[in-house]
Amino acid sequence: MITLEQIEQLRAQVSGWRKEGQRIALVPTMGNLHVGHLKLVEHARQLADRVMVSIFVNPLQFGQGEDFDSYPRTLDEDSRKLEAYAADLLFAPTVSEVYPRPQAEQTKVEVPGLSSILCGQSRPGHFAGVATVVCKLFNMTQPDVAVFGEKDFQQLMVIRRMVEDLQIPVEIEGMATVREADGLAMSSRNGYLTSAERARAPTIFRVLNQTAEALLAGESDFPALQRSACSELESAGLRPDYYQIRRAQDLQPPNSTEKALVILAAAYLGNARLIDNKTVTIS
Ligand code: PAJ
Repeated sequence: MITLEQIEQLRAQVSGWRKEGQRIALVPTMGNLHVGHLKLVEHARQLADRVMVSIFVNPLQFGQGEDFDSYPRTLDEDSRKLEAYAADLLFAPTVSEVYPRPQAEQTKVEVPGLSSILCGQSRPGHFAGVATVVCKLFNMTQPDVAVFGEKDFQQLMVIRRMVEDLQIPVEIEGMATVREADGLAMSSRNGYLTSAERARAPTIFRVLNQTAEALLAGESDFPALQRSACSELESAGLRPDYYQIRRAQDLQPPNSTEKALVILAAAYLGNARLIDNKTVTIS
C-alpha cells in the first residue's frame, strides 16, 4: 500500500492509474478505523481496480467545544488494518495541505435546507464542513466511485445532493450500518464511553427497532412515538438530542400516509454524542 500526504504526489499516482484505464474508488474517513470503515473498503474493492482511503480529521466540520482536539488519531494502526484489507493507497494529508488558507477565508460548499435540520441544527456549520472537505477530496482524487456509510444517513444525503447539484462525476455508494453484537452502531466515538455507559448505549438501536415495529403495525401518531422513544432513552440515562420519524427521501416531516420512512436518533451519553437510524418501508 502506498501512503501519501501531498496532493501533488496523489495526483501523479492517480493519473498513472487513469492512463492504465483503472477504475478508482475512494473511501473518505477520519481514521481510527473499525470494522464499519473496513467493510466500506471491502465493498470498494469489489467496485473498482484501485481503492484509495483518505484519513483526515477535518477541522472544518467540528464546532467550537466539540472533540476535534481529542478525536482519536491512530494512523499506524489504521495503516496496518488497511494493508490487511488490500487498500492500494492511503492518503493522509496534514491540515495545512488541505486548508492552506485560514478557515475564515476558505471557500465553502453549502447544501442548503438539508444541512440545517437534525444534526445540522445542533451542529451549525457541520455539514458545510463535511461537504467542503468531501468536495475537495473528490477534486484531489477524482474517483469513479466513492463509498459512504448509511450510519451517517443525513451526511450521505448531503453528499448525494452536493454531487448532483455540482454535477461532480462520481458515483456514490451507500453501505449498511455495521453493528456490534449487541446492536450498537460501530463508531470511533464509542471509545469515549465508560464501561457502564457502553452497557447502556445499545438502547438507541433497541428503541429504533421498537418504533419501527410500531410503524409497521400501522401506528401513525409520529409525535407520540417520538415522545415515548425519547422517554425510553432518558430512562436508560441517555440525553436525546433529537428522535425523529422523517421521509426517507428528503428528511422532511412525513404525512401519515407516507410509505418510505427513516427514524433518526442522536443522543448524548457521557462524553459521546451517538447517532443511529433505521429505515422503514410500509407496505
Ligand atoms: P468517519 O466518521 O470516519 O466515517 C467514515 C465513513 O465510514 C463514513 O461514510 C461513515 O458513514 C462510515 N461509517 C462509520 N461508522 C460506520 C458503521 N458502523 N457502519 C458503516 N459505515 C460506517 O464520516 C466521516 O468520517 C466524515 O464526516 C467524512 C465523510 C470522512 C468527511 O470528513
